[in-house]
Amino acid sequence: MNKLYLWGIIITVLMLLFTYISVAGSEGGLNDDIVNMLAITGAVALVLITVFVVIKYVRQMQVDSATGDLADENWDGIGEYKNEVPTGWAITFLLTMIWGMWYWTVGYPVNSYSQIGEYNEDTAAHNAKFEAQYKDITGDRLVEMGESVFLAECKVCHGINADGIDGKAANLNIRIDASSVKHVIENGSNNQLLGFAMPMPDRNGLMNANAGYAPITDAEIEKVSAYVANGMTGEGADVYAGTCAMCHGADGTGVDSMGPNIKKFDTALVTNVLNFGKKGSIGAMPKFERLNAKQKEAVGAYITSLSE
Ligand code: HEC
Ligand code: HEC
Repeated sequence: MNKLYLWGIIITVLMLLFTYISVAGSEGGLNDDIVNMLAITGAVALVLITVFVVIKYVRQMQVDSATGDLADENWDGIGEYKNEVPTGWAITFLLTMIWGMWYWTVGYPVNSYSQIGEYNEDTAAHNAKFEAQYKDITGDRLVEMGESVFLAECKVCHGINADGIDGKAANLNIRIDASSVKHVIENGSNNQLLGFAMPMPDRNGLMNANAGYAPITDAEIEKVSAYVANGMTGEGADVYAGTCAMCHGADGTGVDSMGPNIKKFDTALVTNVLNFGKKGSIGAMPKFERLNAKQKEAVGAYITSLSE
């Protein structure tokens, strides 16, 4: 017998043996599981076909000699036969191209799956469940929930005690420090973009009504910054009343659509910062779109509680 066939039979028997050993030994065994029986039958067929097809071609390479018309081109004595494209191959090629175009233009866009889409759907479903489950939480429990959100999401920058880690981020135990107020007065601010009629003007746009609408002076900036940072107490009340009160309210707690609360934190303010991010004299605070509405409310309640 030809040596190749002998090798073919040896390989077939060996592979079947390995398949039998691995399948029959597994749970369910070979005999009491029809799926395993089918699998091993399929394996037998595949191994047989593969081995004998390979043998056929190896033999053909050994004995065949080429015939047909040679093309005119010749590369260092190596020529090329002119063969017709096999019909089956040509049809398959054309069909593949047509399918490819269909898939590219219609099939994928219509049936498309995207991981981001699935993630977004799952997140929305989770948030809906979360909100339904926790919608009644208020008071101390809301603050507690906010603290855990804070420890998970915010402490990396604001520090475990929310003190801002030596000026790396805002100290949230106070509403705002004097140097930040000063920076805002000098440069203006338009961070939160939320329904205010105007941004906070820079110092050229701030007029002191008490001083006959004169531009705000350096000394007035110092005073009013300290006044705001001290929780609206001390010197500077007159400058505040003449320059800032119209937008931030006489007591500093903000005026609808004119200016935010600069006296103390409140949930609306923190939610704004989380929705839009904020850049100031200290640095950049990122937006937190991934928190859901209840989590924002909770962390707002927690931050508000820190300076009360
Ligand atoms: C024309 C209205 C207007 C006037 C006048 C005005 N502000 Fe503002 N202020 C705003 C608005 C609007 C914002 C919010 C800007 C933003 O979204 O970034 C703001 C923001 C601020 C902030 C930043 C708050 C934060 O969370 O960082 C401070 C501090 C502040 N103002 C202080 C003052 C002081 C002090 C004065 C007076 C010297 C003053 N503002 C006058 C409208 C005004
Ligand atoms: C990557 C660092 C970073 C993270 C994380 C971060 N912050 Fe901030 N945050 C900052 C910086 C920096 C500022 C100061 C911005 C400025 O210069 O006024 C700030 C400012 C703030 C302010 C003050 C806004 C104002 O109007 O005065 C609040 C409120 C705040 N962050 C809340 C949060 C909350 C809540 C979280 C967690 C959900 C959080 N931050 C996470 C960096 C961060």
